Amino acid sequence: MEHRVVNDPHVVQKKIAGVKKLGKLIGVVPTMGALHEGHLSLVRQAKHDADFVVVTIFVNPAQFAAHEDFDTYPRTLERDVELLHELEVDMVFAPTCEMMYPAGFDTHVEVGEPARRFEGVTRPTHYRGVATVVLKLLHISMADIAFFGQKDYQQCCVIKRMTADFNMPVKITVCPTVREPDGLALSSRNRYLSQEERSQALVLSRSLKLAQVLVDDGLTDVNEMCSMMREEIETSPLAHIDYIAIADPATLDELVSIPTVRVSHASANSPRAVALLAVRFGTTRLIDNALIM
Ligand code: PAJ
Repeated sequence: MEHRVVNDPHVVQKKIAGVKKLGKLIGVVPTMGALHEGHLSLVRQAKHDADFVVVTIFVNPAQFAAHEDFDTYPRTLERDVELLHELEVDMVFAPTCEMMYPAGFDTHVEVGEPARRFEGVTRPTHYRGVATVVLKLLHISMADIAFFGQKDYQQCCVIKRMTADFNMPVKITVCPTVREPDGLALSSRNRYLSQEERSQALVLSRSLKLAQVLVDDGLTDVNEMCSMMREEIETSPLAHIDYIAIADPATLDELVSIPTVRVSHASANSPRAVALLAVRFGTTRLIDNALIM
């Protein structure tokens, strides 16, 4: 596997150019490592949909604010590479910070209004950093298809917007959130939770389930929905709510009421809304979301 781990962007570009010449479809899974089943589900989807799969591992300093956990973010490269080897990934691209941001680096993606909501309120420079690195990663790897998790719903929206706005020749595939059997969405940050916090963290998925139940029961008033979700979360004394929002699944505009007619012109399977939340347990901040059908 070692030979399949590449650090240098120039080497990646050269290799992939060769693979492309063979007419192969390049599938790319961008990650920050510390891989878990959520990441691996994206890799499996990529193996299914593409001919040559590149997984990128890069803890991107540009998307962390100064007070955030960049220094302590889990780094488990050796184990990650082993897991990817088992899945028969074709290339692991694990650049250093200096390779991604060499001296003189001075160009960033300016993200739009939807990136300033929800996560953007407490993390105002986060999506600028995400968009910039994802643009670089997809460009370097010449991705035909890139795979992202619904777990980071707003991130998917920002990236879809960017790839459309910049006419990037890449298809964005969003894969479902992988959860623990009890409902907690897998996240590299779950390991920071104490036992007590871990068990109370179930209020996230529970309140999202409640949102769908309320809509199924005919409730359309978003204020009412949010306050019932809030009540559910507040049953956990350790939970501190950052935000609860119900938004249009495409534009991320906050909704006042759940549309009775399906918002999208597409099929009956189109979601009517998306419920998004961020909740802190001690110093650990968890996010989760669910499509409202
Ligand atoms: P990271 O948090 O490592 O996540 C990498 C990918 O895995 C993202 O697309 C994320 O949505 C997905 N993912 C995480 N947990 C998941 C889960 N439980 N189920 C399904 N997919 C899950 O997101 C990032 O890294 C970075 O912002 C990145 C896009 C790599 C840019 O630096």
